[in-house]
Formats: sequence, structure tokens, C-alpha cells
Amino acid sequence: MQNFIKKSVLELRGYSSPPQSEYRIKLNQNESPFDVPQHLKIELAEAAVTLQWNRYPLNESPALMQRLAMRHGVFPRHILLGNGSNQLFQTLLTATLEPGDAVVCTQPTFLLYDLYTRIYDGRLIQVEQPPGADYPLHQVLSAIKEYNPKLVYICSPNNPTGWEIDLTSVRRICQATRGLVFFDEAYGEFSGQSAVPLLDEFDNLLISRTFSKAFSMAGLRFGYFIGGEAVIDQLRKVNIPYNINLFTELVATRLLEHEKEMAEQVEFLKKERDRVFSALQLMDGITAFPSVANFILMRGPHDLDLFAALRERGILVRDMSGYPLLAGFQRITIGFKDENDIFLQTLKQIIDQYMGKK
Ligand SMILES: Cc1ncc(COP(=O)(O)O)c(C=O)c1O
Repeated sequence: MQNFIKKSVLELRGYSSPPQSEYRIKLNQNESPFDVPQHLKIELAEAAVTLQWNRYPLNESPALMQRLAMRHGVFPRHILLGNGSNQLFQTLLTATLEPGDAVVCTQPTFLLYDLYTRIYDGRLIQVEQPPGADYPLHQVLSAIKEYNPKLVYICSPNNPTGWEIDLTSVRRICQATRGLVFFDEAYGEFSGQSAVPLLDEFDNLLISRTFSKAFSMAGLRFGYFIGGEAVIDQLRKVNIPYNINLFTELVATRLLEHEKEMAEQVEFLKKERDRVFSALQLMDGITAFPSVANFILMRGPHDLDLFAALRERGILVRDMSGYPLLAGFQRITIGFKDENDIFLQTLKQIIDQYMGKK
């Protein structure tokens, strides 16, 4: 293998997707519990039949770019489309990172940043931000000064801690670095905050959005970048042509006509998140962290394997134990009310049983 596979790849463990089968309730991947309504699916499936599957799609659908531009108050030339935002992240690293380039980010954060930076032989400078702590702005600024990074990653709301950065800090970072600030707003619909207004001030800011969360489209894969024209133009050269298939284009364009329903679902999930958080706070032995996203980070007693106990009872959550600073932590995606209730009841039973044994 050493003869042809990169050293950085040989050393990797790779992304292992969490278990998907044999569950009653799935709260492990921060997806929306709301599927696209059946009548809309049928309409879209019928429309798909009329498309020419033998022809390439338009490279960069102008209609979709136009709608997204309107959604964010920018021009279509500020948008780059991706087959999921992760695909665009790879485009970004292909266009920017050279072996040994420094990248600054806080930890714990979204696992893929680490994985892909390693694949591209980047040098990750990680600043710790334990759950519940404020953004370590001063340490990040010092790291920028010391390492002159090519990229700074900010995930806000941050997966998996649910915390969000304030835009004043983002501004400080954009001013301080000569590199590009990658700002991941995958959960932006839930927090309501966006760094898009800062694009007028900074040409070294790049924003990432996805339809995998609030827009219920994780299974079809769609995401996009919003950035200054000059940066987007360079990334476009690297992005794989025809990366958005005809059906994804059709569905994403159509779902943008249903923003009102999506916003109602987001409101529902936010209320549920706050309800679940309050219930967790009242539970003996559980520590939960406030979140502005559609998930909550929590932990139980040190000697209790909560992930396994929940899984045995058919509830899949995300075990965060492999993440820096998060041994024993679990991330819970907010689901429908009855799913959240069953999760809370089951957790209470597990905890009561554990306390009883002590
Ligand atoms: C912070 C963050 N960014 C990006 C993604 C992936 O988005 P996509 O499905 O658009 O590739 C996720 C998914 O979990 C995420 O948590």
C-alpha cells in the first residue's frame, strides 16, 4: 500500500458511519425527523419522470442559484453548489491546503474537519473549548498570530456542543488572519444567526450551508457555499462539474418554495429542544449543555455506559467518546415529541436503575 496510498491516508481510521439498523428511535445524526410530505414526494417523483436522465444536468443550476441568492440577500455569483456541504469542504481543501499548511480550529468540533485536514496533510492547530465554555477568542487569535494559518474553521452552532460564536468575535478573527475563515452554518436555521452580512466587509470569509438538517434533505445530499466572488470563482475551478444531479436540483428548488413549513418545523424542534433540556437538567446524575441547534450534548455518571444502555432499549444516540474532551458524552438529536418523551422516560429508567444499584 505504501507504494501508492498517501501516508496521511494509511494512518487514518476513516469515517465510520454510526449504526443505522435495529432501532426504535433514531436520535443520532442530527437529521430532521420531518420527512418531505408524501404529496410533495409524489409530485416530485412525477416531475422526475419527465426529465431526461440520459443528459447531463445544467452545471450549476441558474434557477437554484438565483433562489438561494435571494434567500441570503446576495448575488448568484456568490454561491457555489455542492453534493452536500461535505463535498464542498473537500473542494475547499483541494483548492487551498498544501502539505504542512496550518489550520486553526477549536476542539471538540465536527469530526470531518480533522479527517480531511489530515488527508490533505494540513497541520491542525487545535484550541480547546470544553463543553459549556465560551469561545476561546484570545487563544484563537494568538494561534493565528503564531502559526499564520491558511484556514480557520468555525462551526456555529458547533457540532457537537451546541454552542454559538458571536459575530463580533468572527469579525475579530477575519481581521486578524491572512487566511480564509471557513464558517459552517449547517445548523444556522436553528440558531437564526448568520455571518452573511459580514461578507460585505471581508473577502476572506466563506460560509457553508446545508439542506441536510432543517430542509429534511440529508438523503438527497445538497449544500452550498456563500462567499466573495473572487474566492467562489477560484473554488468553482476545483469543484467537480455536474455535482448536483437532476433530482436533487428539482427537489431543492421546490423545497425553497416551502420555507414557511420548514420554519414552522424549526420552531417546533427548538421548543422540543428546550423542553428536553429542562427535563435533562432535572435528572439526577445527568449533565446537559445548553444548545442553539437541533441536538443536545449530555453526559451521565462516569461508570455508566449510557450509549449501550440506550441502544439495548432501541434508542440510537451519538456516542461522542472518540472526540477530544468528550469521553462518556452523548449527543441527542431532537426528534418528534413522542420520540423525545420515550428517550427521556428510558433515560430516567436507566438512571433510576443505576442509582438503585449503588
Ligand atoms: C457541522 C456540520 N457541517 C456539515 C455537515 C454535513 O452536511 P452535509 O450533509 O451537507 O454534507 C454536518 C452533518 O452532520 C455538520 O454537523
